[in-house]
Amino acid sequence: MAIALLLAAGRGERLGADRPKAFVQLGGKPLVQWSVEALNALGDIEQIVVALPPDMPAPAGTIGAPGGSVRSESVKRALAAAGPGDPVLVHDAARPLLTAELVQATLDAVSREGVDAAIAASPVTDTIKQTDGEGVVTRTLDRSGLWAVQTPQVFRRASLERALDVPADVLAAATDDAWLVERSGGRVTIVPSERENLKVTSPLDLALAEMLLAGLVGQRLKHLTSF
Ligand code: C5P
Repeated sequence: MAIALLLAAGRGERLGADRPKAFVQLGGKPLVQWSVEALNALGDIEQIVVALPPDMPAPAGTIGAPGGSVRSESVKRALAAAGPGDPVLVHDAARPLLTAELVQATLDAVSREGVDAAIAASPVTDTIKQTDGEGVVTRTLDRSGLWAVQTPQVFRRASLERALDVPADVLAAATDDAWLVERSGGRVTIVPSERENLKVTSPLDLALAEMLLAGLVGQRLKHLTSF
């Protein structure tokens, strides 16, 4: 059965809050709690291990593990604290609008023949340019094949363990775990996802997440009262 590693150990300095980002309140509960509930909604996740900042408690029903100094180190530590289970889903607590449907889609995708990892991503809508050190444009990328990568990312356990077995400087360079699997020769597949699965980095993102949540709750209430 699948297990989940929930990454909540970042400080979230860009948010400027008085506590670590994953514990900032959103719609009446800590950011991290929204992901715990989405992961539990399915009944397919056997265990949730949460990588935590110092002195913060694990959410009810989860196992806490001390986070590392960089994101992939937190993944490695959470995986070491986990029981048996395969595949392994990795999700950032900074993406509180996770849905059970997206969890299901990524779990389904990794179960396909020959796939080492399945990652949520949305098509890039902005034009992306590359610059030199002076801010002068050197290249415009072809947007049609570009994806903005999110979490959840789901891995076959052996592929993730192999990918994480690298020196500390490689772990520090990884902004997502799928890259570590790519560089170890693994096959990574995309699961198309909505941009609403946003990452809370700045106060603007938190305000957007509040608005989206209010809309979702409103829609659900309308649905219930229409019976
Ligand atoms: O820093 P960034 O926003 O990319 O972090 C993404 C996610 O990884 C966040 O949910 C954060 O809590 C987590 N993280 C972690 N350990 C770190 C750094 C980030 O668990 N050392």
